[in-house]
Amino acid sequence: MEVRAFSKSYDQNPVLRFPAFSFEKGAVYAVIGANGSGKSTFARVLAGALFCDQKSSPLPAGCKVGYMPQKSYGFRMSVEKNILLGGKDRQRARQMMEGLAITHLAERRADRLSGGETARMALVRTLMKPYDLVLLDEPTAAMDIASAALAENCILDYRRETGGVMVIVTHSLKQARRLGDQVLFFHQGNLLEWGPSAQVLEQPEQEETRRFLEFYGA
Ligand SMILES: Nc1ncnc2c1ncn2[C@@H]1O[C@H](COP(=O)(O)OP(=O)(O)OP(=O)(O)O)[C@@H](O)[C@H]1O
Ligand SMILES: [Mg+2]
Repeated sequence: MEVRAFSKSYDQNPVLRFPAFSFEKGAVYAVIGANGSGKSTFARVLAGALFCDQKSSPLPAGCKVGYMPQKSYGFRMSVEKNILLGGKDRQRARQMMEGLAITHLAERRADRLSGGETARMALVRTLMKPYDLVLLDEPTAAMDIASAALAENCILDYRRETGGVMVIVTHSLKQARRLGDQVLFFHQGNLLEWGPSAQVLEQPEQEETRRFLEFYGA
């Protein structure tokens, strides 16, 4: 999947410059970088939630995109109804709810869930349908360790089933290693380094990447 180069500025201040990039179908891309490095801006532009400076989507025409924003939300209705907004297959909804251990929440009001419960519901809702591109912005940041492990399994199952491109923003380098075939390192609004996960995470070429990994890693 070919993505065109784009940039995003706020009041003439550039916060993101992204080059033309070829995403491989069926691959998972982990996006890492410090706070404010442009990761969510990148996800929001690709999701169509935000115009880039070029005003037109950098994605190929007709590309179907699923998106879980960094702040997940629950609409004022039951958890199950929220999930069915993502796709109408009830059996899939039930299976995915089991996968994320939220079956017991099915009838609860979604706008009254805890942060981690909301994230688990939002992940299920996002993965209800196959997409050409799925963007998950820190999907497990609010989850406890056991739930995050379930979420990772769900993400890997989805990837096996659908063969689309997945982009996962994360502050966990371990998660980037477990989920990502490729890692994209954002630094001050630029895609500074990218490549196979093992290479970027263990033998980065750029000094800035090394410094970032030393600080976050170990
Ligand atoms: N609406 C806005 N107006 C002005 N600046 C903004 C706006 N939204 C984001 N920014 C700025 O753009 C930069 C990139 O933000 P972004 O949310 O993409 O960072 P991030 O890499 O996702 O960070 P984090 O790890 O904290 O989620 C930041 O400096 C942020 O302050
Ligand atoms: Mg962010």
